Amino acid sequence: MPKTILITGASTGIGRETANYFVKKGWNVAATMRSPENAEGFESSGRLKIYRLDVLDQGSIDAAIASTISDFGKIDVLLNNAGYGTQGPFEAATKDQIARQFDTNVIGLIAVMQSIIPHMKENGSGTIINVSSIGGRVTLPFYSLYHGTKWAVEGLTESLTFELGEVGIKMRLIEPGAIATDFGGRSLDILSKDGLTGYDDMMARFTKARDAFVDRSSPPIAVAREIYKAATDRSDRLRYLVGNDAKFFWRLRRIFGDKFIMGQVKNRLG
Ligand SMILES: NC(=O)c1ccc[n+]([C@@H]2O[C@H](COP(=O)([O-])OP(=O)(O)OC[C@H]3O[C@@H](n4cnc5c(N)ncnc54)[C@H](OP(=O)(O)O)[C@@H]3O)[C@@H](O)[C@H]2O)c1
Repeated sequence: MPKTILITGASTGIGRETANYFVKKGWNVAATMRSPENAEGFESSGRLKIYRLDVLDQGSIDAAIASTISDFGKIDVLLNNAGYGTQGPFEAATKDQIARQFDTNVIGLIAVMQSIIPHMKENGSGTIINVSSIGGRVTLPFYSLYHGTKWAVEGLTESLTFELGEVGIKMRLIEPGAIATDFGGRSLDILSKDGLTGYDDMMARFTKARDAFVDRSSPPIAVAREIYKAATDRSDRLRYLVGNDAKFFWRLRRIFGDKFIMGQVKNRLG
């Protein structure tokens, strides 16, 4: 019997690429999104169904999970992928921008996990894959809120490995570097405030360095492949880095430590 994956934030980018990849691998796919009426670019297959799910709307989370179980029998894997980034000076962020960033990337991800755990527990098995980022392991300026959310996802997921492992649920973290999606375009929330001073020089250096970094982005299929590996891996591995940039930054931090990697960022941008 084919296995079933439920994916949040599947309208574009990593989520959509992963949905199509899993269908090609013979899985049932519940591709969930805020606006199913705009869905496009999906494999045409009876094994792929689209449901409405906004991670900020508990009713839509419960309904999408119930419909997936009713249509496909059970859910084997949850891919918590929905998320976006804020970028700009921390001082410029409004309370609403801060709340929406954490509500979407952290509280929303928690809500989907809490809603699906009873089902996986009842089955005695399941895998929850949370999309973090290399930004959940190393930091850059002007992404403080986004880093805060991804470091939260890292801690949550690592801790849940212990207690959910006890009831048969595996936890995984996907940590992509720069990926060519809508993340840096329509999904980015730019933080700015009229009259704010003190950051212009650093922002100019940061923008130049970021553009060079983004030019070397990996394609979303690289993430889809790693997610498939994480979904089918029988081992207890927790973290899956994606992209040479992510692997390079993590190696730097692991081998040389915090002070070294922060010094490198400061030299370039500070
Ligand atoms: N691209 C990168 O460089 C990169 C690197 C590391 C990690 N990531 C992570 O990868 C994940 C996917 O991002 P992406 O690169 O594929 O960017 P993307 O193409 O912009 O996709 C983001 C997805 O999240 C959805 N979303 C946002 N708020 C939502 C909400 N309240 N409820 C449900 N869905 C919501 C968007 O839906 P709508 O279409 O409705 O807006 C969209 O489907 C994110 O968690 C991101 O942090 C990306």
